[in-house]
Amino acid sequence: MPTVLALETSCDETAVAVVRDRHLLSNVVSSQIQVHQQYGGVVPEVASRQHLEAMNWAIAQTLTDSGLGWAGIDGVAATCAPGLVGALLVGLTAAKTLAMLHHKPFLGVHHLEGHIYASYLSEPELEPPFLCLLVSGGHTSLIYVKGCGQYETLGETRDDAAGEAFDKVARLMGLGYPGGPVIDRLAKDGNPMAFVLPDGKISLPEGGYHPYDSSFSGLKTAMLRLTQSLQESSEPLPVADLAASFQDTVARSLTKRAIACAKDYGLGAIAVGGGVAANSGLRFRLQEAAERENLRVLFPPLKFCTDNAAMIACAAADHLKHGHTSPLTLGVQSRLPL
Ligand code: KG4
Ligand code: ZN
Repeated sequence: MPTVLALETSCDETAVAVVRDRHLLSNVVSSQIQVHQQYGGVVPEVASRQHLEAMNWAIAQTLTDSGLGWAGIDGVAATCAPGLVGALLVGLTAAKTLAMLHHKPFLGVHHLEGHIYASYLSEPELEPPFLCLLVSGGHTSLIYVKGCGQYETLGETRDDAAGEAFDKVARLMGLGYPGGPVIDRLAKDGNPMAFVLPDGKISLPEGGYHPYDSSFSGLKTAMLRLTQSLQESSEPLPVADLAASFQDTVARSLTKRAIACAKDYGLGAIAVGGGVAANSGLRFRLQEAAERENLRVLFPPLKFCTDNAAMIACAAADHLKHGHTSPLTLGVQSRLPL
């Protein structure tokens, strides 16, 4: 049962964790959200500097919380891709340095593989195969999980990610950043049937629609037009109805694709990951549809859904168990398919 210390710095959270096999020993997440809020989104250069400032403290705190010294750590891991290059470099370089200094194996982990492993952390008995619906600020993917390092991406977004759509729509409605939690909160008082919005079907050249791919740019444009035309009238903007209609459209679109995919591939469980997994509309629609179809849905606790290092450590521990390690020459990449 390998014990791994991992660092995650792909975006705006400086995260460090120690995990033994599929069990969390300690978890530190230092969020930069308040720093970036004043700019209305993540500023890459600011993110790198913030990671540098928080990193040493976060590592020391995580080790103390775990009750372990370096003798108890079997490997050091970090997210190597995809993400902001400067931000990734801080975590990867720190992990390599620690691995060298303490004579431990080093492992670079794909960020999306980490999100998949978040489900094992909350459900250690879970075994592949299962379907992972990964919905974050950067990704909207349906991934067939077959085993350690064995993944097939069956569906993706063709443009904006689901979380990105929440953030952009919140911005155009003047609601601030990050948009997901604000829209979720407002939607609770709104009518999801108030406005009919497009669900972003992807046409196929041979006719019909792609069953698992999605698109959110048309929905975003529809929200922009609707908001503008409503603003022209003297009435106050019906923000709650707009938020509820938008959220329900995203939730139904994701649910439809995930359920179709799980059924077509004969997969009995759908594990959800990424920040949008927190969305109450998605939780409601997906649970409801899964019950109808006799499928199991797993929503890990939010601390494992949003970016964290525990999921990276968990993935690295499994790779270490399989005898996999990474060379110290491994670099970072802003984009990398799973
Ligand atoms: O997984 P995450 O923390 O970071 C990325 O890897 O992107 O996801 C962040 C995204 C943001 O776009 C944020 O607006 C969205 O997750 N989000 C939500 C909710 N909470 C966070 N979207 C919808 N509803 C929420 N409750
Ligand atoms: Zn993420």
